[in-house]
Amino acid sequence: PGERDENETTKGLRVSDKGFLNTAVIQSEITYIDGEAGILRYRGYPIEQLALKSNHLETAYLLIYGVLPSKEQYHNFRLEVTRHRVVHADAEGFFRSFRYDAHPMAILTSAFAYLGSYYSEANPSLQGQKLYTKGDAESLEMIDRQIYRLIGKATTLAAMAYRVRQGREFVIPPSHLSYTGSFLYMMDHMGEENYTPNPVLEKALDVLFLLHADHELNASCTTVLQTASSLVDPYSAIAAGCASLYGPLHGGANEAVIRMLISIGSPENVPAFIQAVKKREKTLSGFGHRVYKTSDPRSFIVRKTADEVFKVTGRDALLDTAMALHDAAMKDEYFVRRKLAPNVDFCGLIYRAMGFPLDFFPVLFAVPRVVGWLAHWRQMMIQEGGVKIWRPRQVYVGPSKRDYEPIDSRA
Ligand code: ACO
Repeated sequence: PGERDENETTKGLRVSDKGFLNTAVIQSEITYIDGEAGILRYRGYPIEQLALKSNHLETAYLLIYGVLPSKEQYHNFRLEVTRHRVVHADAEGFFRSFRYDAHPMAILTSAFAYLGSYYSEANPSLQGQKLYTKGDAESLEMIDRQIYRLIGKATTLAAMAYRVRQGREFVIPPSHLSYTGSFLYMMDHMGEENYTPNPVLEKALDVLFLLHADHELNASCTTVLQTASSLVDPYSAIAAGCASLYGPLHGGANEAVIRMLISIGSPENVPAFIQAVKKREKTLSGFGHRVYKTSDPRSFIVRKTADEVFKVTGRDALLDTAMALHDAAMKDEYFVRRKLAPNVDFCGLIYRAMGFPLDFFPVLFAVPRVVGWLAHWRQMMIQEGGVKIWRPRQVYVGPSKRDYEPIDSRA
């Protein structure tokens, strides 16, 4: 009596929305998804058109700045990203400090936070001021510089996370190759003269990068924005996004798909696996999506890309199991009723065919997703009215007020 209800609020209705099923926290001009119709558009352009006609870096420009670049804008953007790929020589020591079997996502997540320690210009705590002031060209340039730097260095950090585990020397990023070409070079190069990556695999990786570049407010992008809403530097926010992506319900699912297919073993074991999923004893990774209630439009492009890659690498034996699983799930009433269809994570089969180790798959998701995270970060930083810290409320269901009891008198 006389006390306020713990959930009483002076600011109107408090909505409880577990998992944010119906909560919109921003207005955004970047990515449009219609999950019922299976539509995905970046800045209004259908993903199918971009996958066919654009490339990852051009699409990155589109996502960040809202328009397709002119030749000059594209040239300058590419130049900036390319020249920002090199990381400080001291980073070698940082990478070599990890355990020999560290998961590459743990390395990459830490590497983004580590990187931020070099760029105090982007740290408002050190600068004692806001990152962006409306109408101030210098602060906008500073924001864009962090974007070039993070997109450029993402491939270098990822390649270093890959090579350090093999005890190999690091490779300086080459300047004559495409974004994905130079990434493959930094991963694969073993000191051969005139090494160039296979053009089909380079193109396939570029398409997969483009498909993964953004997907509006998924868990990792939300994490980046939630973190950045405190005005922390973008490197820390990207590290937070990377940590969120690491989980098996999100970016870790492409790795989980292959582990699942290996554990199923062969097509004849699929029916038993499906039964185990329905009894909730097993997880069907690579199926289901918070937003898509029909097939993920990216999954069709993944399948077409897989055909191209398998012509070069040979057909993956796991494909038969994957197809049997797909067919069985798509026909099964349990999955149909819940509108569960394949998501983009079956691209793990392509990464496997290209020779990437299993635990590197989430890294191949994180590197291109840096683009989407930064597009959202920039939009948030320069939004009309400035940044408002994200501070959700809870519905309190714990005990009401009670008095402290000394330890000797507790039952
Ligand atoms: N296998 C079997 N059942 C599933 C699956 C699945 N993969 N996904 C959802 N369901 C079931 C749930 O058990 C639930 O059934 P119920 O209503 O009887 O309890 C129903 O479908 C609805 O599922 P939710 O978990 O409520 O859906 P939500 O939107 O919260 O989760 C998620 C989406 C996390 C992607 C889920 O589908 C999942 O766990 N999928 C497997 C992991 C995966 O592939 N993640 C990658 C997502 S895409 C990405 O990040 C690129």
